[in-house]
Amino acid sequence: METILISKKFTLGVLFGTRPEAIKVARLIDYYKNSAHFEIVAISTGQHQEMMRPILDFFSIKEDINLNIMKPGQTVFDVVVATMEGLGKQSKGLKLDGLFVQGDTASCMAGSIWGFLNKIPVFHIEAGLRSGNIYQPWPEEYNRRVTGQAASIHFAPTQGSAQNLINEGFNKDSIYVVGNTVIDSLKYVTDQLKSNPLLADYPEKKIINQWKSENKKLILLTVHRRESIGDEMRQIFKAIRFLSEQPDVKIILPLHLNPAVQEAAKEVLAGSQVLITPPLSYVPFIDVMSKCRFVLSDSGGVQEEAPSLGKPVLVLRKTTERPEGVAAGTCELVGSDEKLIINKSLELLNNDQVLATKAKIQNPYGDGTSCLQIANIVEKFLSTKL
Ligand code: UD1
Ligand code: UDP
Repeated sequence: METILISKKFTLGVLFGTRPEAIKVARLIDYYKNSAHFEIVAISTGQHQEMMRPILDFFSIKEDINLNIMKPGQTVFDVVVATMEGLGKQSKGLKLDGLFVQGDTASCMAGSIWGFLNKIPVFHIEAGLRSGNIYQPWPEEYNRRVTGQAASIHFAPTQGSAQNLINEGFNKDSIYVVGNTVIDSLKYVTDQLKSNPLLADYPEKKIINQWKSENKKLILLTVHRRESIGDEMRQIFKAIRFLSEQPDVKIILPLHLNPAVQEAAKEVLAGSQVLITPPLSYVPFIDVMSKCRFVLSDSGGVQEEAPSLGKPVLVLRKTTERPEGVAAGTCELVGSDEKLIINKSLELLNNDQVLATKAKIQNPYGDGTSCLQIANIVEKFLSTKL
């Protein structure tokens, strides 16, 4: 692999700003750590602070640049403007031969525009995901479309996402199907856990183990989508409150730090039996997922991880840009309708056969070699520029 570029050292930026981006670029940064031919500049926008820190610590990622943009209650506009301004100021003297961006966040979108305007080849990881509705999820569907316009290489996780790009007229030769880098991280975590189970230690673990020993049925819940904030999120939490009152059911909610999400959760769930915790670090979160009966979530990353762990997900959204989990039978869209969430959850709680058909371990998102494939493709791309 390191034979083509023997005479030149390339500098590659890896930009990230939120928890899921950090998880999904972590193994790529690690891959380059000992390279003789590539230097990595890890650029954090700091769109997330507390929620990203444990991820960076766990994967030993050191930010070379941190724009530190996070403000409580920030708007998407705030994030975009602060990222652009921060990159403008803090990148003086930085010469990049390429810039990796990941996914669909405001950091990703603003970073890709900055890269494009500076004539840096942009490499888009997790390209081509489409829900088909520009407002769902909001603003992510827009962000990934814009990022695609800036990208020189599109790293699509699946054939379906590659096809979306082809349908939109992108050059076939710029699109590569490499799986999703989240599987690289998930594999890393499960391997690490085998050798050191103490890694999955967290304050709530005792309670969860106690529930398991009492044969309680554990539901893992995560909610954070901006487009659901307001009535839809309250509907979701009302359904959760009802479910938490069922005998033998226990619900854990690692609660996102967005103040609007916190407020809705407190308003509806105060005094309920739901175990509300701060956001969990990655290993504890995967540990809880592996112990639960099923997941209720509006998260993108969770829809990708759950099939690998054989955990059904009732997706708290009307659409998904990740149809592979639905096709595999693991994920099912339930939106924010209180009754539907309750009925579908009761089915998974009470009907072992329905649960079993959904709980087959499947992995539509690659074999955990995405980062290696991406690095090889980028090396070939850069060697043609020599
Ligand atoms: C962002 C992404 C979304 C992604 C999600 C992952 C955009 C527009 N949205 O949404 O695509 O799915 O991250 O979680 O890029 N906060 C903290 N500490 C933290 C993180 C957040 O206090 O570590 C609070 C702050 O008050 C912040 C608010 O949460 O203003 C919202 O964070 P923000 O990143 O703007 O939006 P998310 O909903 O997290
Ligand atoms: N996650 C985590 N701790 C939590 C909740 C989620 O480590 O308390 C991980 C999860 O395993 C997945 C990612 O964070 O890899 C998903 O992040 P999020 O749902 O915030 O964003 P999305 O994927 O929807 O963009």
